[in-house]
Amino acid sequence: MAVKKGLFKTSVGRKNLMAVTGLFIIFFLIIHLVGNLILILPDSFFPVEFWGGVENVHNMYNAYSHFLVSFWPVTLVAWVLYAAIMIHVIDAIIITLQNNKSRGEKYQVTDNSTSNWYSRNMGILGTIIGVFIVIHMAQFWLKYKVLGTEHDLYELVFAIFKVRWFVLIYEIGIIALGFHLIHGIESAHRSLGIYPKKVMNIIKYVALCFSLVMAILYAIIPIILYLK
Ligand code: HEM
Repeated sequence: MAVKKGLFKTSVGRKNLMAVTGLFIIFFLIIHLVGNLILILPDSFFPVEFWGGVENVHNMYNAYSHFLVSFWPVTLVAWVLYAAIMIHVIDAIIITLQNNKSRGEKYQVTDNSTSNWYSRNMGILGTIIGVFIVIHMAQFWLKYKVLGTEHDLYELVFAIFKVRWFVLIYEIGIIALGFHLIHGIESAHRSLGIYPKKVMNIIKYVALCFSLVMAILYAIIPIILYLK
């Protein structure tokens, strides 16, 4: 049956869209991590004469967050990010519903190399990350960027990570993110191109190392701030 479908209505188109939006979100996650690692640097990292007026982590982090809201290209990229997150989530829901409906045509499950538990549970991991992001955005993004009720982001982050429950929620969200990333990176490469098995093995290894480093670096931030 020759049914003409729009590019992103086909299963391949949807998977490509998931891959492209996913890779963009990863790009954001790297930048976001680098910015937030400022939080765990020692004050001695900022000699005033070198950093021009910035004498501690508190000032540096607030200068960084002020830059995020005052430099328009960053705002533009942030809007692209919100769109990418929405598209990624909606696409994931559609793909999952379609897979449940048509069991015979399941998304990539015929490939044994992706049969780790986290590959089969991308929906659950994605849901945990989704809940985490809603909590996270309500805590920081909403108060600082949207409502403008908080002006000292460093104080806010510090206050949040003094609460044990929030640290636990962040650790759960970040562990889910780590596993989601391993499969996501592998899967994005599979969707965007056909690679020989040897190259795919290298991509899998790189995905594993990258996701591990990202998860560990994200995970230590709340713990260090809690103990500080
Ligand atoms: C554990 C360390 C983290 C800290 C301290 C942190 C801190 C913050 C802060 C202060 C903001 C509001 C200001 C800004 O836009 O940058 C923010 C925004 C955001 N965070 Fe995080 N974050 C962390 C981890 C994460 C993780 C793991 C994710 C994704 C799963 C994430 C996703 C986001 C998103 C999507 C925004 C909105 C970005 C924007 O408006 O440009 N964050 N984060």
